Amino acid sequence: MQSYLFSTTATTALTHRRRRATSLAAAAVTALLAVGLAAGPAQADGGRHGGHGHRGTTLADFAERSDRFVGTAIDNDRLSDPTYRRIASSQFNSVTAENVMKWETIEPSRGEFDFGPGDRLVDFAQRNDQLVYGHVLVWHSQLAPWVTESDFSPQELRTVMTDHITEVAGHYRGQVQRWDVVNEPLNEDGTLRETVFQQKLGESYIADAFRAAHAADPDAELFINDYNMEGITAKTDGMYRLVKRLLAQGVPIDGVGVQGHLTLGNVPEDMRQNLQRFADLGLEVVITELDVRMELPATGAKLVQQAKDYHQVTKACLRVKRCTGITVWGLGDADSWVPGWFEGEGAATLYDEDYRRKPAYHAMRATFAAGGWWNWHGWRR
Ligand code: G3I
Repeated sequence: MQSYLFSTTATTALTHRRRRATSLAAAAVTALLAVGLAAGPAQADGGRHGGHGHRGTTLADFAERSDRFVGTAIDNDRLSDPTYRRIASSQFNSVTAENVMKWETIEPSRGEFDFGPGDRLVDFAQRNDQLVYGHVLVWHSQLAPWVTESDFSPQELRTVMTDHITEVAGHYRGQVQRWDVVNEPLNEDGTLRETVFQQKLGESYIADAFRAAHAADPDAELFINDYNMEGITAKTDGMYRLVKRLLAQGVPIDGVGVQGHLTLGNVPEDMRQNLQRFADLGLEVVITELDVRMELPATGAKLVQQAKDYHQVTKACLRVKRCTGITVWGLGDADSWVPGWFEGEGAATLYDEDYRRKPAYHAMRATFAAGGWWNWHGWRR
């Protein structure tokens, strides 16, 4: 079933209807946004599995109606907080492990695997009927020190890498629907980043990583993921060339992860076109780590701009049929990685420090609602 929203070719009549639909949907978004802004930050979260919310009105409900998933990164340490748990389980239908599936945690010593924290996250997701996005199999950061310190021969390093993938993706076989197989492989100029894997194995480490992941879990969808992937730039040109090479070699790659760590007011205007060019290669696209950071303190005007930014990103994804979902990186502003990494910046997520919905929450939900409304009215080609 193909929604008219996602149509790339159109007859004159369809174009006319699309224009009409676009303006109607824009009006709907504006109205919903206005309602959301009016409800504003004072509204505490309820949820569809209890609390004060109504079934059918969560972020996840509206995302589902527009055939998308909406996810949040989960910090396992926060799962003991009932408010955190309630929002994470009710408003989102996908979860990503923010840290617990990374190499340093899951294989801290060679051949010794600690799946405990990752298992707890998977268990949380299963109890709440959520998808699991696995993050991450091969990455130069948060890599167990033994991998870089051991001075492995190229052949041994390849075995170390594929063994890791085989064990981890094999352990979660059937429980993780999507994996970031290789994370952040590129420099800003689009060339390959010089990681230990790239230095010793060359570009072939990427193909080998995907092949090992596919062998370990043939049903999982396999992604290559990076930041500064939103607009058309030298870096995304490099990614485009890289995934084309991988596809030409028959490498089992299913998608590109666009992290989406943005600064206020800077959603690239060509984001949709950029997502579309990857989709046109037959790949899926996911916005994997969305957040929009700002200089603190957060003012009303900044929060409204942030709402527009979340709307723009969501709209860009909705307009690309193969953009299947969006994950926000951190449940609330208190959980976000941003303040720890960018001095004086923060307020990057959908919920404030007290887990009250921000304008961005309402904007994202309204945009998903507009996408679902389009589907409901059956504009399909
Ligand atoms: O585990 C230790 C803990 O033992 C110690 O007490 C504590 C003290 O600070 O640090 C803990 O480690 C922290 C770790 O997160 C787990 O919480 C590190 O200091 C901290 O640097 C680390 O930050 C994570 C960062 O990746 C590391 O690169 C962030 O939480 C996480 O949000 C961030 O996520 C990345 C994605 O994986 C890839 N894309 C970019 C994104 C943002 O950087």
